[in-house]
Amino acid sequence: MRVLVSGGAGYIGSHTVLALVAAGHDVVVVDDFSNSKPTVIGRLESLSGAHVPVHSFDLTDADKTERLFAHEQIDAVIHFAGFKAVGESVTRPLAYYRNNLESTFSLVDAMNRHGVTRFVFSSSATVYGEKAPVPYREDYENLSSSSPYGQTKVMVERVLSDVAHISEGWKVALLRYFNPVGAHPSGRIGEDPQGVPNNLMPFIAQVAVGRRERLTVFGDDYPTADGTCERDYLHVEDLAAGHVAALEHLDDMAEPARAFNLGTGTGTSVLELLRAFERAVGRELPYEVGPRRAGDLPAFWADPTRANTELGWHATRTIDDMCADTWRWQSANPHGFPDA
Ligand code: UD1
Repeated sequence: MRVLVSGGAGYIGSHTVLALVAAGHDVVVVDDFSNSKPTVIGRLESLSGAHVPVHSFDLTDADKTERLFAHEQIDAVIHFAGFKAVGESVTRPLAYYRNNLESTFSLVDAMNRHGVTRFVFSSSATVYGEKAPVPYREDYENLSSSSPYGQTKVMVERVLSDVAHISEGWKVALLRYFNPVGAHPSGRIGEDPQGVPNNLMPFIAQVAVGRRERLTVFGDDYPTADGTCERDYLHVEDLAAGHVAALEHLDDMAEPARAFNLGTGTGTSVLELLRAFERAVGRELPYEVGPRRAGDLPAFWADPTRANTELGWHATRTIDDMCADTWRWQSANPHGFPDA
């Protein structure tokens, strides 16, 4: 298939571009580089051996999106592009709703005009909200999220599901990611957060490489085995493989829209992840315990039964693989991708 990858220069998008090319698909990237560097594209081309056409614009521009579909033959869309900082979404809710919803509307309109009916959406475990029983099951219905960022994921899932149900031939896979970490085993691409990392793994990696003094563990008085929060970390290579599996399953999907959990099914605590990273680096890393972070849940992980059985997809990489690959990327690229 010829696949339009929105946000293909980003962390998960870039790894998925490589997985798609390796599986024999053609890729077209659209990215406005607002949270990624153009230099990732050259690395994708050298790693994949394929030319990666890139369109650089903001998908909320419906006219440009229409022109893209008029000029490129597209068989399917994988939609990663979006604002994703939870804290920022609380202070700039309208920007988050506008960006994440409008970009989806532009894509859906252009797809409808050009007869494209296959859609894979980058959703998140955040849609399960605060009340869903753990492990989170794919058939859970009362979706909600405490942050505007998470609420955009709930809303876009609903929009796509409604569109798919009334549009002839539409098939939508809603992929709910748990906590993606790790990097391509080459060490040439990986997560490159701008500014202070919001998430645990890139923060630990920057401590290890000397860019940050120490990790602050956000609370050690949770009702978990060691008192720190537990999450379902999965390797970004497994996540990328999940997108290929979902894409290739779309035509066989019995329903127009279906949600899948992309997670391992096990929880790992903050301190367990830190210890695993120390094993990868070969030395201890400095940390202190600070207060809880507002909005954090004590522990959650996936029940990925539907993804396992219907997509035939399983996460196979271990926590030690995730840390070793993150460290290879971070130590070879202490400041992330170069500017030019
Ligand atoms: C966060 C988002 C979630 C988003 C996901 C993307 C919040 C509340 N949730 O999930 O909506 O989909 O990222 O990957 O932001 N931690 C520390 N010190 C740090 C950073 C994190 O102790 O410097 C802890 C956190 O308290 C948490 C765990 O590490 O217990 C994981 O945090 P993080 O990587 O931010 O992921 P989530 O909070 O699970």
